[in-house]
Amino acid sequence: MSKRVVVVNGPNLNLLGKREPEIYGTRSLDDLNKTVEAKAKELGWDVSLFQSNHEGEIIDFLQQHAPGSVGIVINPGALSHYSLALYDCLQALALPVVEVHLSNIHAREEFRSRSVTARAARGVITGLGFVGYELALEYLAGQ
Ligand code: DQA
Repeated sequence: MSKRVVVVNGPNLNLLGKREPEIYGTRSLDDLNKTVEAKAKELGWDVSLFQSNHEGEIIDFLQQHAPGSVGIVINPGALSHYSLALYDCLQALALPVVEVHLSNIHAREEFRSRSVTARAARGVITGLGFVGYELALEYLAGQ
């Protein structure tokens, strides 16, 4: 049975390509998913992709689909800055987690530089755009 990785994008990331392109770029979520799928394929993994604008849906998805996977790559979007429920969920799953942000959260508004979910992650990749997701997958491959 082939290995599987879980890749989750949070609120507003469905708007990639249209949303503040000067910050998030002009490529869409579909383009991002293709990049992730190509990298996962290179590593010999299946990938469970999910995006939602709803905290509870993300938690439900993770509880259902993360167990048995090699790990989680997650861009929680703004949930990073306040969702203790998502933090608790990631902790409870006890899998390697890499948190990714497309933009550099430390170079923007002050409220963005604090991530409560990052405490549940092995590491955070911020500001490297799509490449951040590929690097996160590579990290998980080395675990
Ligand atoms: C983001 C950064 C967050 O502060 C923001 O709320 C997002 C996207 C990023 O990928 O840079 O929705 O996670």
